[in-house]
Amino acid sequence: LSMDPTRLVHPAEPPIDEKLYSGFLEHLGRCIYGGIVDNPKAPSPKELLISHEDGSGRTKGRAGFRKDVMGILAKDGELEVPMLRWPGGNFVSNYHWQDGIGPIENRPKRIELAWLSTESNQFGTDEFIDYCRATGCEPYICLNMGTGTYEEALAWLEYCNGTGDTYWANLRRKNTGRDEPHGVKYWGLGNEMFGPWQVGNLSAADYTKKAKQWAHGLKLVDPSIKLVSCGNTGSSDWDREVLATMVQFADLHSIHFYTMLGHDKVGVQGNDYEKNVFGPAIRRAPLIVSKAAERSIEICKSLIDLSNIDRSFMGYQPRDVKVCFDEWNVWDESKAPGAVGLEQWYDYTDMLGFCAWLNVLVRKHKDIGIACLAQSVNVISPLMTCPDGICKQTTYYPLRLFSRYMKNGHLLQLPAMPDVYSGPSYPAFIQQTLLKPAYIDLVAILVQTESGASIRLSVLNRHPTLDWKADCAFAGFNIDKAEVHEMYSDDLSAVNTFDKPETVVPNITSLSASEFEKQGGWTVRKHSWSFFIF
Ligand code: AHR
Repeated sequence: LSMDPTRLVHPAEPPIDEKLYSGFLEHLGRCIYGGIVDNPKAPSPKELLISHEDGSGRTKGRAGFRKDVMGILAKDGELEVPMLRWPGGNFVSNYHWQDGIGPIENRPKRIELAWLSTESNQFGTDEFIDYCRATGCEPYICLNMGTGTYEEALAWLEYCNGTGDTYWANLRRKNTGRDEPHGVKYWGLGNEMFGPWQVGNLSAADYTKKAKQWAHGLKLVDPSIKLVSCGNTGSSDWDREVLATMVQFADLHSIHFYTMLGHDKVGVQGNDYEKNVFGPAIRRAPLIVSKAAERSIEICKSLIDLSNIDRSFMGYQPRDVKVCFDEWNVWDESKAPGAVGLEQWYDYTDMLGFCAWLNVLVRKHKDIGIACLAQSVNVISPLMTCPDGICKQTTYYPLRLFSRYMKNGHLLQLPAMPDVYSGPSYPAFIQQTLLKPAYIDLVAILVQTESGASIRLSVLNRHPTLDWKADCAFAGFNIDKAEVHEMYSDDLSAVNTFDKPETVVPNITSLSASEFEKQGGWTVRKHSWSFFIF
C-alpha cells in the first residue's frame, strides 16, 4: 500500500454488500432446537406460543428464542448477520411447510429423511419470520423440490406474501394475528437437487424443466420475489445445463462448496494443514482443480455470461444473474458426521482455512449476490451452545471482524504475491494455467466513514515456517491510526471449549500510523492471520 489507495479502487466495481455475511439455519442436529430455541429437544408449546400472543408483529419478550444466540446473530448484534437461509439444506427436500403452521399442539411429528431424525414442527414458517423480525435478519426460504409439489410451493409463497382476501393469506392472518405479510423476497428453487443423497434428486434436464415451470408460477403469485436456481459447485455440467435455461428465470444461481478434509482423502496429497489453509483454492486438486472455490465463482460467472450470449441470439435480453454462494465453510466430515449433528470443534488450522474463505468471498464479491455461512449455530458453526452458555469457536473471531468491517467499501486492487505453494496438495505442473495459491493471501478494502477514509486489510500467512512483513506506507493519504487484530497460536490444533473459551482469541494492538510506519510495518507471523484497520 505504498501509493494513494484511492487509486487502487476499480472505478466500475460496486461496493461490498453486507449480504456476503449471511447465515443459514437448517433443521439438523441442534441448530434450531438447542441453538435457536431454548430446549434441545422441543420447546414447550407455551414458550413458542407467547411470541404470537399480542398480535403486534413483534415477538413479545422473544420467549422461546435463545436471547444469547439472538444477540450474536442479530443484524445489530455481534455478527451483524443480514440474512438467514432456512429451513435447509438437505432437510428441505422432505419438508412440508403446512406441518409447521397453526396451533403448535396440533402440529404433526414427522419422520425426517435427510438426517434420519424426527421433526417436531415446533418451529415453522411463522416462528422463522418472528425470528427474522426480532433479529432484523432478512428471510431467505428454500423450497422443497424433492417431495414437495408445485402447488405447495405456490401456496407457501402466497401464505407468506399474499395481501389479498384469499385462503392462504387469510390463514397467515389467523395464525399470526396480524395483517402484515411476511414479505419474503428471496426463494431458493430446491437444494442440491443434483445429489444422489437428496430426497427426490433429479437429472439436470428434469430439474431445469421443473424449475422453469415453478419460477413462472411463483413470479405470477408475487412478481417482486428473487429466485435462486439450484447450482452445484458453479463449474459443473449441472451448472452449465441449468444456467443455459434458468438464466432467463432466476435472479441468482447457487453454489455449495466446503473445504472437506475427510472427503478429500482421495485426490489430495499433503498434510491436513496444507489441505485446510489452501482449501478454498485447491479443493480436490490435483484431480479436479477447477472445483476450487475461487475458480468456481469465476467459471460460474462465465457460464452465466455464456448463457446470456446464447440466449441473446434467440432475442432475449441478458440478465444480471449473480452467484448465490449459499453454503460455504471448512467442514471435516470425519470430525463432524451426521450422527453427531455435524458438530465440529474448529481448531486453529481450521480458523486459518476459514480466513482463506473470507478473503475469497471479498475478492470475488462483485459476482456474488449472497453468501451464507453453513451454518449459523451448533451445526458446523462458529457458535456452540449448551443449555446455559455459548462457546465462540476459533472461526468466530475472523467472521466477526469481516462482517463488521469488510463491507460498504470498495475492493483495493493489490499486487499478486509471488511466493506460491507448490507442495504435494498442489504440484507445480497443475499451476501452469490455473490459480496459484500464494502463501500470503491478501484482501483489502477502502471505506469512507464519517471521520474520513479507512482501510481494512486481511493478511493470511499460510507459510508453515516463515514470517512475512506487511510494509504499509500511507503517503498522500490521511491515515492517523492503526489497529491490528492478530490470531496466532503455536499449537495448530488449539480449540476454544466451554472450559477454556479464550484459548484462541485475537490479540489487539493499537498504535498511531506514524508509529506503524516508523517501526517498518507489521510482522505477520508464520501460520497466522492479522486483520488491520487503518
Ligand atoms: O450444511 C450441511 C449440508 O451440506 C446441507 O444440508 C446440504 O445442503 C449440504 O450438503
